[in-house]
Amino acid sequence: MSASLSQNSEYRAGQSPYLHLPVLVNDVVKYLLTSPRDVYVDGTVGTGGHSEVLGRLLDKGGHLICLDRDPDALSLSKDRLAFLESRLTLVKGNYREMDEILEGLGTGKVAGILLDLGMSSYQLDRSGRGFSFSRDEPLDMRMDPEERTMARELINQCGPAELERILREYGEEKRARLVARAIERARRKGPIESTMQLSEIIKSALFRYRRPGEKHPATRTFQALRIAVNRELENLGVFLGKAPDLIKKGGRLVVLSYHSLEDRMLKKTMRQWEKGCECPPDFPVCRCGKEPLFRRLTKRGVRPGQKEIEENPRARSAILRAAERL
Ligand SMILES: C[S@@+](CC[C@H](N)C(=O)[O-])C[C@H]1O[C@@H](n2cnc3c(N)ncnc32)[C@H](O)[C@@H]1O
Repeated sequence: MSASLSQNSEYRAGQSPYLHLPVLVNDVVKYLLTSPRDVYVDGTVGTGGHSEVLGRLLDKGGHLICLDRDPDALSLSKDRLAFLESRLTLVKGNYREMDEILEGLGTGKVAGILLDLGMSSYQLDRSGRGFSFSRDEPLDMRMDPEERTMARELINQCGPAELERILREYGEEKRARLVARAIERARRKGPIESTMQLSEIIKSALFRYRRPGEKHPATRTFQALRIAVNRELENLGVFLGKAPDLIKKGGRLVVLSYHSLEDRMLKKTMRQWEKGCECPPDFPVCRCGKEPLFRRLTKRGVRPGQKEIEENPRARSAILRAAERL
C-alpha cells in the first residue's frame, strides 16, 4: 500500500520559502512511499523539497538517506531536514556510486530510491556558477566544485568536431555545426569566459533562424554543456545498471527527468527490466534465462498538470517514471 498526503497536508507549489519548488510531489509520494518504517534514499536532495515531504510521512522507525554532489545543496537541506534528527543521513556524493555509499553506511537494500534529475532553481539562480544565460557569470557549470572540467574548458579547448557532437548529442541542437563554428571563430580572438559572452555568440549565429515564440537560442547549448560537464547521462546509465541490486522486493524506483535524452534512457531500461528476457524475437524459447526485475507503475510517465505548470513553470518539461522491484 502506498502512503499519500492527506487532503489537509497536500503539498501546494508556492508554499515553500525555499527557492526550488519540488515537482510532482504528490505523485512522488504516491509511487515511492510504500513502507514508512523503512529506509529511503533521495539521490538528488537539492534544497530538500521532496525530502521534507517524504520525511514528514516517515514513521519513527523510518530513515532517509540524502545525497547530492553539490555541497551547497547539502548545507541548505541540512537545516530544512533537521526535524528528522537521527532518522536522517546526509552524504556528499554522486548517485552513480550509490552502491558504495550504502555499503559504507552499512545499509542493505532499501525500500525506495528517488532521483530528481537536472539542476535546482538554487543552482540556476543563486549559485553563481554559470548555469543560466540570463546572468553574467563565469562559465563553470560544475554541480560538484571538486570536479576538474568546467564549461569554460570545453568551450575554449574542444576541437570543433567534438564541440559540434556535444551540442548535437546533449543539446539536440539542429544547428550544432553553425554554433560550434561561431564559437571557434570567436575564441580565436581570445578565450570565452562568461555566460553573456557565450550567449551573445550563439544569439548572433542563430539570429536569422529565430522564430517568434521560440526558446532563447542559447537554451540548447547551455543544456548540452551542463550535461557534458556533469556527465549526466553517463551517471544515469551507471546508476540504472546498479539499481536492481539496491532496491528490495516490493521497493520502488521513482525518477523525474526534464529532457528527452534522460527520459528515453529510463523508458527503455524500465521496459527491459519488465520484459526480462533479452533473446531475439525469433527464438522459439528463451535461452538467456533473464527474469523480469521490475514492474512498471507508470507506462506512459506522469506529467504535471496545467495548474502546477502555472505555479511552477520549471515543472513544464518534467516526466515521472516509477517501477516496483519484483
Ligand atoms: C532538480 S534538483 C533536486 C531538487 C530536490 N528534489 C528538491 O525538491 O529540492 C537536482 C539536484 O541533483 C543534484 N545532482 C545532479 N546530478 C547528481 C549526481 N550525479 N549525484 C548526486 N546529485 C546530483 C544537483 O546538484 C541538484 O542539487
